[in-house]
Amino acid sequence: MIPHTAPSALTVSAMTRRFDVSAPWLNRVIERKPRLFVRAVDDVSFEVPKGGCLSLVGESGCGKSTVARLVTGLYAPSEGSIAFAPGPDGRPLSVQMIFQDPYASLNPRWRVFDIIAEPLRELKLRETEVEIADRVAELLKTVGLTASDGRKFPHEFSGGQRQRISIARALASEPDFLVCDEPTSALDVSVQAQILNLMRRLQDEMGLTYLFISHDMSVVRHMSDQIAVMYLGRIVEQAPTEVLFAHPRHPYTQLLLETIPNVTAPRRDREPQAGEVPSPLKPPSGCTFHPRCPQSDSRCSAERPEMTTMPDGSRVACHRVEEMMARMA
Ligand SMILES: Nc1ncnc2c1ncn2[C@@H]1O[C@H](COP(=O)(O)OP(=O)(O)OP(=O)(O)O)[C@@H](O)[C@H]1O
Ligand SMILES: [Mg+2]
Repeated sequence: MIPHTAPSALTVSAMTRRFDVSAPWLNRVIERKPRLFVRAVDDVSFEVPKGGCLSLVGESGCGKSTVARLVTGLYAPSEGSIAFAPGPDGRPLSVQMIFQDPYASLNPRWRVFDIIAEPLRELKLRETEVEIADRVAELLKTVGLTASDGRKFPHEFSGGQRQRISIARALASEPDFLVCDEPTSALDVSVQAQILNLMRRLQDEMGLTYLFISHDMSVVRHMSDQIAVMYLGRIVEQAPTEVLFAHPRHPYTQLLLETIPNVTAPRRDREPQAGEVPSPLKPPSGCTFHPRCPQSDSRCSAERPEMTTMPDGSRVACHRVEEMMARMA
């Protein structure tokens, strides 16, 4: 467990990303339509301590992958800043990304050996072909495959094995920081657990820092030191993992936790997820969660709540949080 006083590897401040989703210019002119923007990420701030794991959770469309793409530089922020701490020897931190669909991110025409050797050659991390072959064999073993698997093509592997190959490829460039966007969501539950365990072991052995993304609360519980819950582009609650599970403060976090499959409570006893996620093109006024919130009052539809920090380290953006806490005490 990483204390949150550890120096931060990544500091994201007031980061916003808008996308222009307007109709083409001519249609706008003819049909007198205004320009249209979606705020995929809206004023998001967080830190990831060195060697720690921060997870982002939330329903589809809340902006998780956009945060991942902003952090890895695939998108530029519209506002705000993203700062990585310098690496151990003063060089910039090296960041790699692992995606949900390993098949789409592995070149199907290349043998696994060449897929993993590419970053070694590209970054000149090994000199000779013998050194490259040794390193590829070592990486394959690290992720639970064998050196002879290097001769095969990606389609010859199962989904879980393919994700192991993507991890080996990511590790080849000796990263300090991994951004993992739903790395196990396409896998069966038992295979998911194997890949998550592998990722945890690699984190301990190599001192990696993770920004981990999932829509699944039971997956992030297994992985994270800290969890940030996103709703319509904003972080609504962030807390150390045990604190979030023991005392979920935001009504949206409570809703997400109620939907975790629970072996002791049969499926039908669980409440269905209340309401639909509103369109990010027309977010509700005030607290954007208010139309779905069982606790909302007139203030919630009028004013956007500020983030407040609780004594146990959780941060919550909710007008009703103090009243609800007082009622529970
Ligand atoms: N390149 C883009 N152009 C226009 N809109 C985009 C773009 N990328 C994302 N969006 C919009 O931004 C919002 C957030 O999308 P994002 O992919 O980050 O969500 P997500 O939380 O990763 O969802 P999922 O769980 O389904 O992967 C969505 O409304 C999406 O339609
Ligand atoms: Mg996504």
